[in-house]
Amino acid sequence: MDFYDRDIVSIRDFTREEIEYLLDLSEKMMPYATGDKTGRLLDGKILGNLFFEPSTRTKLSFESAACRLGCDVIDVSEMSMTSISKGETLADTIRMVDAYCDLIVLRHPYEGAARLAAKFSQNPVINAGDGAGSHPTQTLLDLFTMRQSKGSLDGLNVVLVGDLKYGRTVHSLAEALTMFGAKLTLVAPDTLQMPDEIVNHIKDKGCDPVKTANLEDVIDKADVLYITRIQRERFPDPTEYKKVAGMYRIDNAMLREAMSDMIVMHPLPRIDEIAPEVDSSEHAKYFQQAFNGVPVRMALLCAILGGELP
Ligand code: CP
Repeated sequence: MDFYDRDIVSIRDFTREEIEYLLDLSEKMMPYATGDKTGRLLDGKILGNLFFEPSTRTKLSFESAACRLGCDVIDVSEMSMTSISKGETLADTIRMVDAYCDLIVLRHPYEGAARLAAKFSQNPVINAGDGAGSHPTQTLLDLFTMRQSKGSLDGLNVVLVGDLKYGRTVHSLAEALTMFGAKLTLVAPDTLQMPDEIVNHIKDKGCDPVKTANLEDVIDKADVLYITRIQRERFPDPTEYKKVAGMYRIDNAMLREAMSDMIVMHPLPRIDEIAPEVDSSEHAKYFQQAFNGVPVRMALLCAILGGELP
């Protein structure tokens, strides 16, 4: 499987076999991600971490993955601290960062920014979230977590809940799960349903998702309940946000309707979608999910930059 020097912009750029290869490699990275084993597989390489939108998990797990592999990191966390604030274009900024590192990880508020960056960078670019577009590395760690918990990805009954319109993680995830024959249920009010472009894409690939606004009607059939935050920052009109804020909330009473081995996932951060009482239940996988960003991103960095496990 050849990932060397490759851009990671969209989950559509992967085949099912490529995803499985990366998940297997992530499994091998686990003892390095926990620090039980050490290996400077990327000694001498430099990662450029550009985060032009807030992030805790994606930014720090990329940094942790790089550090564990002996790869140095240069980073920017605020657009206002770069020369973009003086009028420089994203294309020129990318050309510059490209000259200082071997791989660029980019989070940006605008959909399509990672694709543009990949065009102007000689070195590979990883999309770490582009506006309401997609978040392919989140999808890889989501799939890794599902496989870890359920044993297989094939034919899972997955319920996606919340902001399916602006939530980029569910866009990439719905497309990836379709490659594994998932049955998808899309739970959202009409105003926050999955964009037609994505629904049509997964239908073309053989998935026929069920749409509903009522989580109570479908929770008992779920193998995986994947809930997302309402993306307040993407709403053009704050009054529209207020109409849907707090619409879905998982608590222990609701989980009594679920199968005993159903897992609850969330890309985080959560606001009020999951009651803290759920954290200690067997269903809760969201903190493990966030940790899994480290082995999965280690696998990606090694695959793209040519790091070889002993
Ligand atoms: N899941 C995720 O992308 O989290 P951050 O915004 O904290 O990176």
